[in-house]
Amino acid sequence: MSVKNGRQFLSIPGPTTVPDAVLAAMQRPAIDIRQGDLVTITDGLMRDLKLIAGTKTGTPFIFIANGHGAWEAAISNVLCRDDKVLVLESGSFAVGWGQSGATLGVDVEVLPGSWRAAVDPAKVEERLRADTSGDIKAVLVVQIDTATSVQNDIPAIRRAIDNAGHDALLMVDTIASLGTMPYRMDDWGVDVTVAACQKGLMMSPGLSFTIASKKAMARHEAANLRTAYWDWTARLGSEHYQKYSGTPPVHLLYGLEKAFELIKAEGLDAIVTRHQILADATRAAVTRWAEGGIFEFNIEKEAERANSVTTVRVHDESVLPAFHAFCEEQCGAIIGVGISALSGKAIRIAHMGHINAPMLLGTLGVMETAFKALGIPHGKGGVEAAIELIAGRLKA
Ligand SMILES: Cc1ncc(COP(=O)(O)O)c(C=O)c1O
Repeated sequence: MSVKNGRQFLSIPGPTTVPDAVLAAMQRPAIDIRQGDLVTITDGLMRDLKLIAGTKTGTPFIFIANGHGAWEAAISNVLCRDDKVLVLESGSFAVGWGQSGATLGVDVEVLPGSWRAAVDPAKVEERLRADTSGDIKAVLVVQIDTATSVQNDIPAIRRAIDNAGHDALLMVDTIASLGTMPYRMDDWGVDVTVAACQKGLMMSPGLSFTIASKKAMARHEAANLRTAYWDWTARLGSEHYQKYSGTPPVHLLYGLEKAFELIKAEGLDAIVTRHQILADATRAAVTRWAEGGIFEFNIEKEAERANSVTTVRVHDESVLPAFHAFCEEQCGAIIGVGISALSGKAIRIAHMGHINAPMLLGTLGVMETAFKALGIPHGKGGVEAAIELIAGRLKA
């Protein structure tokens, strides 16, 4: 028996639900790729990317690639073979970025961190102070790690680099954070921002981005890992065709244009507030469920929990296969699974991008229904706590 017919809720932390308006914007005939409307669209997208990332002086680039592609683009454009990079561990993704750099020929040092806490800026400062010969050319960090659901304090990491008097570039992966929480590239002194379209930016996967500060553009001149496809200089050529190192992804650009239109219409401050409320509601539900003894927040400190995804450790792993199957096959909601070191050990509840109160409450409601139907131990009243939180915040 099932009650899943109707709209399926996708609650995985990327790719996320694509708004109907964005899907519809891609449903159109192809157009000329060298002149006319598409050139105007590209110009607008570059402007909007800067706006969303909080930069006036950065130079944006759009790649036909997922986040892994933008990782390579970032590294290959500013580094030389055997340059050392310091990767700040707080989960899976900064380390993955470093590994991709290692395959390109950079020397990767991981500053070990916890999978249950944010990067400690004091440790960053200590390591950089010890690098008296300036071997470390870049610091790589994620703003939100999608495996652990931690949020790192980027301004504090910037201060750590400055306090150490170090010249390394600060390179930040915002793939799971941009469009969900504040990000101010210029104010925070970020040198390279890496982003992708399929999470907070509400587009179907296939586009990713780097934005380079003036300092990063200067380092780029000497970088010897540059390749024809990723190369920023080649992409700054005057022809529209060069901006994509080849044929532009026409329909994806239409979709992204619409997604950015939706973001601008709602406004970045309102988007951040919406994510804050829905994340707090999720945490209110999880706090109640945790009273049953088998669920626990992965991130220990409240202030370090991300507003785009919540990773919940599950101490009785045996319940997970039936839980996911129940949610999807009997109720029509897909809940994220644990990944990397948390594979088979956690649930990830996504609350980012195109999500509102009914979608979140529906998802939490299905989860609680599954706990009840399957006899999974949980504290009662998780959904009620989420409702109370949202009601309290929205009350005039
Ligand atoms: C923070 C972060 N960085 C990088 C990636 C990799 O992006 P992609 O899967 O698009 O290659 C992901 C994917 O989930 C991510 O969450």
